[in-house]
Amino acid sequence: MSFTVVEQAPARLNRSELAVPGSNVRAVEKSASLPVDVVFLDLEDAVAPDEKETARKNVIAAINDIDWGNKTLSVRINGLDTHYMYRDVVDVLEQTNGRLDLIMIPKVGTAADVYAVDMLVTQVENAMGREKRIGFEMIIETALGMANVDEIARASKRNESLHFGVADYAASTRARTTVIGGPNPMYGVLTDAPEGGGERDYHWGDMWHYAIARMVVAARAAGLRPLDGPFGDFNDADGYRAQANRAAVLGCEGKWAIHPSQVDFANEVFSPSDVEIDRAKRILDAMAQAAREGKGAVQLDGRLIDIASIKQAENMVRKAEQIAQNQ
Ligand code: GLV
Ligand code: MG
Repeated sequence: MSFTVVEQAPARLNRSELAVPGSNVRAVEKSASLPVDVVFLDLEDAVAPDEKETARKNVIAAINDIDWGNKTLSVRINGLDTHYMYRDVVDVLEQTNGRLDLIMIPKVGTAADVYAVDMLVTQVENAMGREKRIGFEMIIETALGMANVDEIARASKRNESLHFGVADYAASTRARTTVIGGPNPMYGVLTDAPEGGGERDYHWGDMWHYAIARMVVAARAAGLRPLDGPFGDFNDADGYRAQANRAAVLGCEGKWAIHPSQVDFANEVFSPSDVEIDRAKRILDAMAQAAREGKGAVQLDGRLIDIASIKQAENMVRKAEQIAQNQ
């Protein structure tokens, strides 16, 4: 281990994160009854400019009046380049009770963007005597944000998670996309022709691999949760699951749902299965026995496990306990 200890963000269940337009009162009300881990009430891109004020009022009322149970509640404020953003922060924090947990900052480009929001949030919290400190979720969705992702991840003690905002990221990098967050068939490789002739195979690649992997490393190095963003085709359950699975494999803790139908898929993909939990517990037992016998590595089910396996197994068991506590 390094001598540098990475402080971890508060442990929150974040398998699914539902985006709900603040302008849609019915959707906001419905979101409170869904089995979703985190709801973010959106004041940004899902809300048209002439609805911004109304959406802000709706969101304030929803935070105060709706029973959100044990969900984590977040508000996505407008970007720092708009004239809506300061009022989003000030009005939401001045006019709501202590139920809000997080503020989501879109299109973060530099560490100074986070600093600016932190300054504003801190002033309002202190002025209002708010006891619960608001945490930050930051969307990495521009080339500038990705270029500065490490500094952004460490920019504030409030930081809890980084999110890959694939739609804006595609626009910013001028990537060629088809479905929001989906693969592009043009991004692939053609195999060499087999010896003696025959068909060449074409393998699709994941055009978002670099971006997600880069963000995961930045987030984990700063003790934050990495989250995969939206998948636009909410009628394509298999497509959603595939994208969620590959994000989970790379280390993401969860994925956005832009439609209630996607919530269950995210919860399923980002929850360890019974088989995985059972194996993790057996790894911990086997390694405890190995420690008693003074061994560092042992075999389990014909495979080598060592001290690194303990950490993976502990993460798995901790996640299972977190899920059980939340139910
Ligand atoms: C999310 O905000 C995105 O742009 O994908
Ligand atoms: Mg966006």
